[in-house]
Amino acid sequence: MEQQKKGQWGNQFGFLMAAVGSAVGLGNLWAFPYKMGKNGGFAFLFIYIIIVAFVGIIITITELGIGRKTGKGVVGAYRELGKKFAPIGWFGVISPFLIMSFYMMLGGYTLKYMIANLGDIFGASWGYQGAGMETAEYFQAFFSNQLETVIYTVIFVLLTAAVVRGGVSEGIEKFSKVAMPALFFMLVAVIIRSVTLPGALEGLKFVFEPNFEVFKGSGWVNVFAAAGGQAFFSLSLGMGIMVTYGSYLKKEEDLKLNSIVIPIADTIIAVMAGMAIMPAVFAGGLEPAAGPGLLFVTLQTVFASMGAGGPIFGFVMYFLVFIAAITSSISLLETVVAVVVDMKIEKSKEFNKKKITFWCTAAIMAEAIFVSLDGLGSHGFPQIFGQSTWLDSMDLVSEGVLMPLSALLTAIICGWVLPEFVTDEVELNGKFTWKKFYMFCIRFVVPPVMILVLLGQLDSFFKLGIFG
Ligand code: PHE
Repeated sequence: MEQQKKGQWGNQFGFLMAAVGSAVGLGNLWAFPYKMGKNGGFAFLFIYIIIVAFVGIIITITELGIGRKTGKGVVGAYRELGKKFAPIGWFGVISPFLIMSFYMMLGGYTLKYMIANLGDIFGASWGYQGAGMETAEYFQAFFSNQLETVIYTVIFVLLTAAVVRGGVSEGIEKFSKVAMPALFFMLVAVIIRSVTLPGALEGLKFVFEPNFEVFKGSGWVNVFAAAGGQAFFSLSLGMGIMVTYGSYLKKEEDLKLNSIVIPIADTIIAVMAGMAIMPAVFAGGLEPAAGPGLLFVTLQTVFASMGAGGPIFGFVMYFLVFIAAITSSISLLETVVAVVVDMKIEKSKEFNKKKITFWCTAAIMAEAIFVSLDGLGSHGFPQIFGQSTWLDSMDLVSEGVLMPLSALLTAIICGWVLPEFVTDEVELNGKFTWKKFYMFCIRFVVPPVMILVLLGQLDSFFKLGIFG
Protein backbone atom coordinates (compact mmCIF):
# COMPACT_ATOMS: atom_id res chain seq x y z
CA MET A 1 0.00 0.00 0.00
CA GLU A 2 1.19 3.45 -0.96
CA GLN A 3 0.27 4.90 2.41
CA GLN A 4 2.39 2.35 4.23
CA LYS A 5 5.42 3.07 2.15
CA LYS A 6 5.16 6.80 2.69
CA GLY A 7 5.25 6.33 6.43
CA GLN A 8 2.85 6.76 9.30
CA TRP A 9 3.01 7.98 12.85
CA GLY A 10 3.59 5.13 15.26
CA ASN A 11 1.25 6.44 17.92
CA GLN A 12 -0.67 9.48 18.96
CA PHE A 13 1.91 10.72 21.41
CA GLY A 14 4.55 10.61 18.70
CA PHE A 15 2.38 12.53 16.28
CA LEU A 16 1.55 15.13 18.90
CA MET A 17 5.17 15.66 19.80
CA ALA A 18 6.03 16.15 16.13
CA ALA A 19 3.12 18.52 15.52
CA VAL A 20 3.69 20.50 18.71
CA GLY A 21 7.37 20.50 17.81
CA SER A 22 6.50 22.18 14.54
CA ALA A 23 4.28 24.71 16.24
CA VAL A 24 6.66 25.56 19.06
CA GLY A 25 9.47 27.49 17.49
CA LEU A 26 11.22 30.80 17.41
CA GLY A 27 7.83 32.49 17.19
CA ASN A 28 6.91 31.32 20.68
CA LEU A 29 10.20 32.31 22.19
CA TRP A 30 11.14 35.57 20.62
CA ALA A 31 7.88 37.09 19.50
CA PHE A 32 5.07 36.01 21.78
CA PRO A 33 6.35 37.31 25.14
CA TYR A 34 7.13 40.69 23.66
CA LYS A 35 3.88 41.00 21.75
CA MET A 36 1.93 39.99 24.81
CA GLY A 37 3.70 42.61 26.91
CA LYS A 38 3.28 45.35 24.31
CA ASN A 39 -0.32 44.62 23.43
CA GLY A 40 -2.05 44.54 26.77
CA GLY A 41 -0.64 41.65 28.81
CA PHE A 42 -3.42 39.42 30.05
CA ALA A 43 -5.85 41.35 27.86
CA PHE A 44 -3.79 40.27 24.83
CA LEU A 45 -3.70 36.70 26.08
CA PHE A 46 -7.46 36.73 26.31
CA ILE A 47 -7.81 37.88 22.70
CA TYR A 48 -5.11 35.46 21.62
CA ILE A 49 -6.96 32.53 23.19
CA ILE A 50 -10.19 33.56 21.49
CA ILE A 51 -8.40 33.67 18.14
CA VAL A 52 -6.80 30.29 18.81
CA ALA A 53 -10.24 28.84 19.63
CA PHE A 54 -12.19 30.37 16.74
CA VAL A 55 -9.48 30.37 14.10
CA GLY A 56 -6.41 28.35 15.14
CA ILE A 57 -8.21 25.16 16.09
CA ILE A 58 -10.51 25.48 13.08
CA ILE A 59 -7.70 25.77 10.54
CA THR A 60 -5.71 23.06 12.32
CA ILE A 61 -8.52 20.52 12.06
CA THR A 62 -9.18 21.57 8.47
CA GLU A 63 -5.58 21.06 7.42
CA LEU A 64 -5.19 17.79 9.33
CA GLY A 65 -8.46 16.60 7.79
CA ILE A 66 -7.42 17.49 4.24
CA GLY A 67 -4.12 15.70 4.80
CA ARG A 68 -5.54 12.54 6.26
CA LYS A 69 -8.37 12.28 3.79
CA THR A 70 -6.14 12.56 0.75
CA GLY A 71 -3.05 10.88 2.18
CA LYS A 72 -1.04 13.30 0.08
CA GLY A 73 1.46 16.07 0.49
CA VAL A 74 0.17 19.60 0.12
CA VAL A 75 0.12 19.89 -3.69
CA GLY A 76 -1.56 16.52 -4.25
CA ALA A 77 -3.97 17.20 -1.41
CA TYR A 78 -5.25 20.48 -2.86
CA ARG A 79 -5.43 18.92 -6.28
CA GLU A 80 -7.81 16.33 -4.84
CA LEU A 81 -9.94 19.13 -3.49
CA GLY A 82 -10.21 20.23 -7.11
CA LYS A 83 -7.86 20.76 -10.02
CA LYS A 84 -8.31 24.49 -9.89
CA PHE A 85 -7.16 24.55 -6.27
CA ALA A 86 -3.73 23.14 -7.05
CA PRO A 87 -2.09 26.61 -6.99
CA ILE A 88 -2.97 26.89 -3.29
CA GLY A 89 -1.08 23.66 -2.81
CA TRP A 90 1.88 25.26 -4.51
CA PHE A 91 1.71 28.19 -2.08
CA GLY A 92 2.10 25.49 0.55
CA VAL A 93 5.41 24.40 -0.93
CA ILE A 94 6.76 27.83 -1.73
CA SER A 95 6.13 29.15 1.79
CA PRO A 96 8.07 26.51 3.71
CA PHE A 97 10.76 26.66 1.07
CA LEU A 98 11.20 30.40 1.55
CA ILE A 99 10.87 30.26 5.33
CA MET A 100 13.62 27.68 5.48
CA SER A 101 16.01 30.12 3.83
CA PHE A 102 16.16 32.14 7.03
CA TYR A 103 14.91 29.67 9.61
CA MET A 104 17.95 27.47 8.94
CA MET A 105 20.24 30.45 9.35
CA LEU A 106 18.61 31.41 12.65
CA GLY A 107 18.88 27.80 13.76
CA GLY A 108 22.57 28.12 13.01
CA TYR A 109 22.71 31.20 15.26
CA THR A 110 21.34 29.10 18.15
CA LEU A 111 24.16 26.61 17.62
CA LYS A 112 26.71 29.40 17.69
CA TYR A 113 25.36 30.70 21.01
CA MET A 114 25.19 27.23 22.51
CA ILE A 115 28.85 26.83 21.72
CA ALA A 116 29.72 30.33 22.95
CA ASN A 117 28.17 29.58 26.34
CA LEU A 118 29.71 26.14 26.44
CA GLY A 119 33.09 27.77 25.93
CA ASP A 120 32.40 30.09 28.86
CA ILE A 121 31.53 27.15 31.11
CA PHE A 122 35.07 25.89 30.53
CA GLY A 123 36.60 29.33 30.47
CA ALA A 124 37.81 28.60 26.95
CA SER A 125 39.06 31.27 24.59
CA TRP A 126 36.46 30.24 21.98
CA GLY A 127 33.66 31.16 24.40
CA TYR A 128 31.79 34.41 24.42
CA GLN A 129 33.93 35.89 27.19
CA GLY A 130 37.08 34.97 25.32
CA ALA A 131 36.10 37.27 22.48
CA GLY A 132 36.19 40.28 24.83
CA MET A 133 33.29 42.09 23.19
CA GLU A 134 30.02 43.64 24.23
CA THR A 135 27.04 41.44 23.36
CA ALA A 136 25.72 43.73 20.63
CA GLU A 137 29.15 43.96 19.07
CA TYR A 138 29.61 40.19 19.38
CA PHE A 139 26.32 39.54 17.59
CA GLN A 140 27.16 42.03 14.87
CA ALA A 141 30.58 40.47 14.39
CA PHE A 142 28.97 37.05 14.11
CA PHE A 143 26.12 37.73 11.72
CA SER A 144 28.30 39.79 9.41
CA ASN A 145 30.98 37.11 9.32
CA GLN A 146 29.90 35.31 6.17
CA LEU A 147 32.09 32.26 6.51
CA GLU A 148 31.10 31.59 10.09
CA THR A 149 27.35 32.05 9.59
CA VAL A 150 27.44 29.89 6.48
CA ILE A 151 29.18 27.12 8.41
CA TYR A 152 26.61 27.19 11.21
CA THR A 153 23.75 27.36 8.72
CA VAL A 154 25.09 24.36 6.85
CA ILE A 155 25.44 22.37 10.07
CA PHE A 156 21.86 23.19 11.04
CA VAL A 157 20.56 22.21 7.60
CA LEU A 158 22.41 18.91 7.79
CA LEU A 159 21.05 18.13 11.27
CA THR A 160 17.51 18.85 10.06
CA ALA A 161 18.02 16.70 6.98
CA ALA A 162 19.43 13.83 9.03
CA VAL A 163 16.19 13.60 10.99
CA VAL A 164 13.91 13.93 7.95
CA ARG A 165 15.96 11.35 6.10
CA GLY A 166 15.21 8.86 8.87
CA GLY A 167 11.56 8.79 7.86
CA VAL A 168 8.30 9.74 9.49
CA SER A 169 8.18 7.41 12.46
CA GLU A 170 11.84 6.37 12.66
CA GLY A 171 13.19 9.88 12.16
CA ILE A 172 10.79 12.71 12.95
CA GLU A 173 8.66 10.94 15.51
CA LYS A 174 11.54 9.32 17.38
CA PHE A 175 13.43 12.59 17.56
CA SER A 176 10.41 14.65 18.66
CA LYS A 177 9.44 12.18 21.37
CA VAL A 178 12.72 12.85 23.11
CA ALA A 179 13.33 16.45 22.11
CA MET A 180 9.97 17.97 23.05
CA PRO A 181 9.78 16.64 26.61
CA ALA A 182 13.43 17.74 27.00
CA LEU A 183 12.45 21.22 25.81
CA PHE A 184 9.62 21.31 28.31
CA PHE A 185 11.80 20.37 31.27
CA MET A 186 14.52 22.80 30.29
CA LEU A 187 11.91 25.50 30.01
CA VAL A 188 10.66 24.74 33.51
CA ALA A 189 14.24 24.88 34.81
CA VAL A 190 14.85 28.20 33.09
CA ILE A 191 11.61 29.63 34.49
CA ILE A 192 12.60 28.65 38.02
CA ARG A 193 15.99 30.31 37.62
CA SER A 194 14.56 33.33 35.92
CA VAL A 195 11.73 34.21 38.31
CA THR A 196 14.00 33.86 41.33
CA LEU A 197 16.42 36.49 40.07
CA PRO A 198 16.28 39.77 41.97
CA GLY A 199 14.08 42.21 40.08
CA ALA A 200 12.27 39.49 38.16
CA LEU A 201 8.85 40.71 39.18
CA GLU A 202 9.02 43.66 36.78
CA GLY A 203 9.37 41.21 33.92
CA LEU A 204 6.32 39.24 34.94
CA LYS A 205 4.44 42.51 35.22
CA PHE A 206 5.52 43.50 31.73
CA VAL A 207 4.21 40.26 30.26
CA PHE A 208 1.08 39.72 32.29
CA GLU A 209 -0.26 42.95 33.74
CA PRO A 210 -3.58 43.65 32.01
CA ASN A 211 -3.60 46.92 30.15
CA PHE A 212 -6.87 47.93 28.57
CA GLU A 213 -5.49 51.21 27.27
CA VAL A 214 -4.30 49.46 24.11
CA PHE A 215 -7.92 48.79 23.12
CA LYS A 216 -8.89 52.45 23.16
CA GLY A 217 -10.25 53.96 19.96
CA SER A 218 -9.27 51.82 17.03
CA GLY A 219 -6.50 50.24 19.11
CA TRP A 220 -8.35 46.93 19.38
CA VAL A 221 -7.90 46.42 15.64
CA ASN A 222 -4.13 46.50 16.13
CA VAL A 223 -4.36 44.08 19.02
CA PHE A 224 -6.48 41.73 16.93
CA ALA A 225 -4.14 41.92 13.96
CA ALA A 226 -1.11 41.31 16.20
CA ALA A 227 -2.76 38.36 17.94
CA GLY A 228 -4.05 36.92 14.66
CA GLY A 229 -0.70 37.14 12.91
CA GLN A 230 1.11 35.65 15.87
CA ALA A 231 -1.37 32.78 16.36
CA PHE A 232 -1.21 31.93 12.73
CA PHE A 233 2.59 31.77 12.43
CA SER A 234 2.96 30.11 15.79
CA LEU A 235 0.60 27.28 14.90
CA SER A 236 2.47 26.60 11.62
CA LEU A 237 -0.71 27.12 9.61
CA GLY A 238 -1.35 28.07 6.01
CA MET A 239 1.71 26.34 4.61
CA GLY A 240 0.90 22.70 4.20
CA ILE A 241 2.63 21.47 7.32
CA MET A 242 -0.46 20.23 9.09
CA VAL A 243 -1.72 18.81 5.78
CA THR A 244 1.51 16.86 5.44
CA TYR A 245 1.61 15.72 9.06
CA GLY A 246 -2.11 14.85 8.83
CA SER A 247 -1.44 12.64 5.82
CA TYR A 248 0.61 10.33 8.04
CA LEU A 249 -2.18 9.95 10.59
CA LYS A 250 -3.96 6.64 10.95
CA LYS A 251 -7.65 6.60 10.24
CA GLU A 252 -8.44 5.68 13.83
CA GLU A 253 -6.81 8.78 15.32
CA ASP A 254 -9.26 11.35 16.63
CA LEU A 255 -8.81 14.54 14.62
CA LYS A 256 -10.98 16.56 16.99
CA LEU A 257 -8.82 15.85 19.99
CA ASN A 258 -5.53 16.38 18.17
CA SER A 259 -6.60 19.69 16.71
CA ILE A 260 -7.36 21.01 20.17
CA VAL A 261 -4.30 19.66 21.94
CA ILE A 262 -1.75 21.13 19.49
CA PRO A 263 -2.90 24.77 19.79
CA ILE A 264 -3.32 24.52 23.56
CA ALA A 265 0.16 23.08 24.00
CA ASP A 266 1.62 25.76 21.73
CA THR A 267 -0.09 28.51 23.69
CA ILE A 268 1.03 27.12 27.04
CA ILE A 269 4.64 27.00 25.84
CA ALA A 270 4.38 30.57 24.55
CA VAL A 271 3.13 31.83 27.91
CA MET A 272 5.85 29.83 29.67
CA ALA A 273 8.40 31.46 27.38
CA GLY A 274 7.19 34.80 28.69
CA MET A 275 7.84 33.61 32.23
CA ALA A 276 11.30 32.37 31.29
CA ILE A 277 12.57 35.28 29.26
CA MET A 278 11.15 38.58 30.43
CA PRO A 279 11.94 38.22 34.16
CA ALA A 280 15.59 37.63 33.21
CA VAL A 281 15.55 40.66 30.91
CA PHE A 282 14.15 42.95 33.58
CA ALA A 283 16.34 41.46 36.30
CA GLY A 284 19.27 42.48 34.13
CA GLY A 285 17.85 46.01 33.94
CA LEU A 286 17.44 45.68 30.17
CA GLU A 287 14.77 46.79 27.75
CA PRO A 288 12.38 44.16 26.43
CA ALA A 289 12.67 43.54 22.71
CA ALA A 290 11.52 41.14 20.04
CA GLY A 291 13.25 39.17 17.33
CA PRO A 292 16.92 38.26 17.02
CA GLY A 293 17.90 41.20 19.23
CA LEU A 294 16.06 39.69 22.18
CA LEU A 295 17.51 36.22 21.80
CA PHE A 296 21.04 36.98 20.80
CA VAL A 297 21.81 40.32 22.40
CA THR A 298 19.51 40.98 25.34
CA LEU A 299 19.50 37.45 26.70
CA GLN A 300 23.21 36.96 26.18
CA THR A 301 23.76 40.18 28.13
CA VAL A 302 21.80 38.66 30.99
CA PHE A 303 23.82 35.44 30.95
CA ALA A 304 27.12 37.27 30.67
CA SER A 305 26.34 39.40 33.71
CA MET A 306 25.24 36.56 35.94
CA GLY A 307 28.63 35.37 37.10
CA ALA A 308 29.63 31.72 37.25
CA GLY A 309 26.17 30.22 36.73
CA GLY A 310 25.43 32.44 33.72
CA PRO A 311 26.97 30.30 31.00
CA ILE A 312 25.21 27.18 32.26
CA PHE A 313 21.89 29.00 32.26
CA GLY A 314 22.78 30.36 28.85
CA PHE A 315 23.72 27.00 27.42
CA VAL A 316 20.45 25.43 28.59
CA MET A 317 18.47 28.34 27.18
CA TYR A 318 20.10 28.22 23.74
CA PHE A 319 19.83 24.45 23.67
CA LEU A 320 16.12 24.88 24.29
CA VAL A 321 15.85 27.44 21.49
CA PHE A 322 17.79 25.08 19.23
CA ILE A 323 15.30 22.26 19.86
CA ALA A 324 12.38 24.59 19.28
CA ALA A 325 13.94 25.68 15.99
CA ILE A 326 14.96 22.27 14.69
CA THR A 327 11.62 20.57 15.32
CA SER A 328 10.06 23.41 13.30
CA SER A 329 12.60 23.25 10.50
CA ILE A 330 12.09 19.47 10.31
CA SER A 331 8.39 20.03 9.59
CA LEU A 332 9.25 22.60 6.94
CA LEU A 333 11.63 20.27 5.14
CA GLU A 334 9.28 17.31 5.40
CA THR A 335 6.52 19.34 3.74
CA VAL A 336 8.67 20.01 0.70
CA VAL A 337 10.03 16.46 0.56
CA ALA A 338 6.50 15.01 0.75
CA VAL A 339 5.45 16.88 -2.37
CA VAL A 340 8.36 15.50 -4.36
CA VAL A 341 7.61 12.00 -3.04
CA ASP A 342 4.04 12.36 -4.37
CA MET A 343 5.32 13.45 -7.75
CA LYS A 344 7.54 10.40 -7.97
CA ILE A 345 4.72 8.09 -6.95
CA GLU A 346 2.51 9.61 -9.62
CA LYS A 347 5.14 9.12 -12.28
CA SER A 348 6.62 5.77 -11.53
CA LYS A 349 5.08 4.43 -8.32
CA GLU A 350 8.55 4.19 -6.93
CA PHE A 351 10.49 6.59 -4.82
CA ASN A 352 13.58 6.78 -2.70
CA LYS A 353 12.91 9.17 0.14
CA LYS A 354 16.54 9.41 1.13
CA LYS A 355 17.48 10.51 -2.35
CA ILE A 356 14.62 12.99 -2.50
CA THR A 357 15.62 14.39 0.88
CA PHE A 358 19.15 14.78 -0.40
CA TRP A 359 18.13 16.89 -3.41
CA CYS A 360 15.62 19.00 -1.49
CA THR A 361 18.27 19.60 1.14
CA ALA A 362 20.75 20.69 -1.51
CA ALA A 363 18.31 23.28 -2.87
CA ILE A 364 17.47 24.56 0.60
CA MET A 365 21.10 24.70 1.55
CA ALA A 366 21.77 26.92 -1.44
CA GLU A 367 19.08 29.45 -0.58
CA ALA A 368 19.96 29.39 3.13
CA ILE A 369 23.58 30.12 2.23
CA PHE A 370 22.45 33.09 0.15
CA VAL A 371 20.43 34.52 3.01
CA SER A 372 23.33 33.90 5.39
CA LEU A 373 25.72 35.74 3.07
CA ASP A 374 23.44 38.76 3.28
CA GLY A 375 24.35 38.87 6.99
CA LEU A 376 21.10 40.55 8.02
CA GLY A 377 21.68 43.26 5.46
CA SER A 378 25.21 44.08 6.63
CA HIS A 379 26.91 43.71 3.26
CA GLY A 380 24.97 46.17 1.18
CA PHE A 381 23.30 43.51 -0.99
CA PRO A 382 20.49 44.84 -3.18
CA GLN A 383 17.18 45.14 -1.40
CA ILE A 384 14.41 42.80 -2.45
CA PHE A 385 10.80 44.03 -2.23
CA GLY A 386 11.99 47.07 -0.33
CA GLN A 387 13.08 45.10 2.73
CA SER A 388 16.35 45.88 4.48
CA THR A 389 17.36 42.25 4.93
CA TRP A 390 16.91 39.20 2.73
CA LEU A 391 15.41 37.50 5.75
CA ASP A 392 12.58 40.04 5.67
CA SER A 393 12.15 39.70 1.92
CA MET A 394 11.66 35.95 2.21
CA ASP A 395 9.41 36.39 5.20
CA LEU A 396 7.32 38.97 3.38
CA VAL A 397 6.43 36.62 0.54
CA SER A 398 5.69 33.68 2.83
CA GLU A 399 4.42 34.89 6.17
CA GLY A 400 3.25 38.21 4.80
CA VAL A 401 1.31 37.08 1.76
CA LEU A 402 1.17 33.40 0.82
CA MET A 403 0.39 31.91 4.23
CA PRO A 404 -2.59 34.10 5.16
CA LEU A 405 -3.82 33.86 1.58
CA SER A 406 -3.63 30.10 1.63
CA ALA A 407 -5.55 29.90 4.93
CA LEU A 408 -8.15 32.33 3.63
CA LEU A 409 -8.73 30.35 0.44
CA THR A 410 -8.73 27.06 2.32
CA ALA A 411 -11.43 28.38 4.64
CA ILE A 412 -13.54 29.51 1.69
CA ILE A 413 -13.17 26.14 -0.03
CA CYS A 414 -13.88 24.03 3.05
CA GLY A 415 -16.58 26.34 4.38
CA TRP A 416 -18.48 27.25 1.22
CA VAL A 417 -17.43 25.21 -1.79
CA LEU A 418 -16.93 21.71 -0.37
CA PRO A 419 -18.41 21.89 3.12
CA GLU A 420 -18.40 18.13 3.63
CA PHE A 421 -14.84 17.43 2.60
CA VAL A 422 -13.33 17.84 6.04
CA THR A 423 -16.36 17.12 8.22
CA ASP A 424 -16.83 13.66 6.67
CA GLU A 425 -13.25 12.84 7.47
CA VAL A 426 -13.61 14.06 11.05
CA GLU A 427 -16.70 11.90 11.47
CA LEU A 428 -14.75 8.75 10.76
CA ASN A 429 -13.83 8.92 14.44
CA GLY A 430 -17.27 9.28 15.90
CA LYS A 431 -19.69 12.13 15.96
CA PHE A 432 -18.29 15.58 15.21
CA THR A 433 -19.79 17.06 18.35
CA TRP A 434 -18.86 20.63 17.52
CA LYS A 435 -19.62 20.49 13.81
CA LYS A 436 -21.98 23.48 13.98
CA PHE A 437 -19.35 25.55 15.72
CA TYR A 438 -16.81 24.40 13.13
CA MET A 439 -19.04 25.32 10.19
CA PHE A 440 -19.87 28.67 11.68
CA CYS A 441 -16.23 29.56 12.29
CA ILE A 442 -14.86 28.35 8.98
CA ARG A 443 -17.53 30.27 7.08
CA PHE A 444 -17.91 33.46 9.01
CA VAL A 445 -15.00 33.93 11.40
CA VAL A 446 -11.86 32.61 9.70
CA PRO A 447 -12.19 34.54 6.40
CA PRO A 448 -12.51 38.04 7.92
CA VAL A 449 -9.80 37.31 10.48
CA MET A 450 -7.46 36.12 7.74
CA ILE A 451 -8.14 39.25 5.73
CA LEU A 452 -7.29 41.29 8.81
CA VAL A 453 -4.11 39.28 9.32
CA LEU A 454 -3.15 39.76 5.67
CA LEU A 455 -3.62 43.51 5.95
CA GLY A 456 -1.79 43.58 9.26
CA GLN A 457 1.17 41.74 7.72
CA LEU A 458 1.37 44.02 4.69
CA ASP A 459 1.10 46.96 7.02
CA SER A 460 4.03 45.88 9.13
CA PHE A 461 6.24 44.93 6.19
CA PHE A 462 5.57 48.07 4.19
CA LYS A 463 4.89 50.39 7.13
CA LEU A 464 1.66 51.50 5.50
CA GLY A 465 0.26 52.95 8.68
CA ILE A 466 -3.11 51.20 8.37
CA PHE A 467 -2.68 49.94 11.92
CA GLY A 468 -1.05 52.01 14.62
N1 PHE B 1 5.54 27.76 14.31
C1 PHE B 1 6.91 28.05 14.32
C2 PHE B 1 7.24 29.12 15.31
O1 PHE B 1 6.42 29.53 16.09
C3 PHE B 1 7.45 28.58 13.07
C4 PHE B 1 7.02 27.90 11.90
C5 PHE B 1 6.15 28.52 11.09
C6 PHE B 1 7.48 26.66 11.64
C7 PHE B 1 5.72 27.92 10.02
C8 PHE B 1 7.08 26.03 10.60
C9 PHE B 1 6.19 26.66 9.78
O2 PHE B 1 8.34 29.60 15.32
